[in-house]
Amino acid sequence: MGLTTSPARAALPSSCQPVAPAHSVPSLLDDVRDGLLTSPRSLPPKYFYDDRGSRLFDAICDTEEYYPTRTEDDLLGHRAADIIARLQPEHLVELGSGTSRKTRRLLDACEEQGCHATYWPFDVCESMVQDSALALMDEYDWLQVRGLVGDYHAGFEHLPGFPGRALFVFLGSTIGNLEHEYAVSFLRELRGLMGPDDALLMGADRVKDSDVLQAAYNDRDGLTAEFNRNLLRVLNREVGANFDPTAFEHRAIYNQARSRIEMYLVAAQAQTVTVKALDASIEFVEGESILTEISRKFTPASLTTLLSEAGFRIEQHYEPADGFFSLLLAAPAAD
Ligand code: AVJ
Repeated sequence: MGLTTSPARAALPSSCQPVAPAHSVPSLLDDVRDGLLTSPRSLPPKYFYDDRGSRLFDAICDTEEYYPTRTEDDLLGHRAADIIARLQPEHLVELGSGTSRKTRRLLDACEEQGCHATYWPFDVCESMVQDSALALMDEYDWLQVRGLVGDYHAGFEHLPGFPGRALFVFLGSTIGNLEHEYAVSFLRELRGLMGPDDALLMGADRVKDSDVLQAAYNDRDGLTAEFNRNLLRVLNREVGANFDPTAFEHRAIYNQARSRIEMYLVAAQAQTVTVKALDASIEFVEGESILTEISRKFTPASLTTLLSEAGFRIEQHYEPADGFFSLLLAAPAAD
């Protein structure tokens, strides 16, 4: 690090380590080529989350309409003690940890029970992992945090070993972003690195009244609309596109037949957009849409199917009285 006089805390890069991809994942450019130059047009939702997008998502979580975050947080608040008491994990490994907002519920329970687990936040964004690691080590003086920086879509083979029992945590219903087949293979891959005594804690949003679902993705302050359009700004910056974000409208509908929210950007008028990095242009007709996200909603039955196809058995299914959200504690099933 050289002869710097940085404060002791900042000189802790050893609390973070890179996780090399186990298999290749398409680049943004690949995804733009495959998803935007052909129709129907679509892009993976993972590109929403640059700095601005992550801040917008945080703000969405605080809106009245977006119930999943507070519902899951409430559930965790009520159930964390039970979860920690059952498992006594030595490691908490969180996939897509972000700002580790809800993880504090689990860490509080660890603290109360004297279960001094090591926390492993795993996220693509190095500064987020670093910052939350430092903040958490400040808040919990017994806590060891070992940040993992990488893309969890690229596999888990290069994660370090976790000696002793590990609890893998995958919150926020992020699983809902994945089509069924992809969700199964993703969870199967995770299952592959788990020992027989490890467990998975997963949050999943539930099927419910379509007005409630639709409102959650159409907040009245327009934060979700801005979050959706942010994708176009990311494309402008990262692949030299020249989208006019104001020329696209946000649309989020609940597709009842497929039990999923579908989020689109709809061209408000005919327009041509160029993508420098591909030396290509895209012609949009008025009303043409780009599918930017699916957010699947589950039933207890569809969750049981998903997890059993992925090689897990559900040990505990926690839900609030209104059944708005599920927290599942699952164990690897015998092969
Ligand atoms: C973080 C993927 C769970 O699907 O509800 C929120 C993202 N998109 N509002 C979701 C999101 C629009 C969110 N997930």
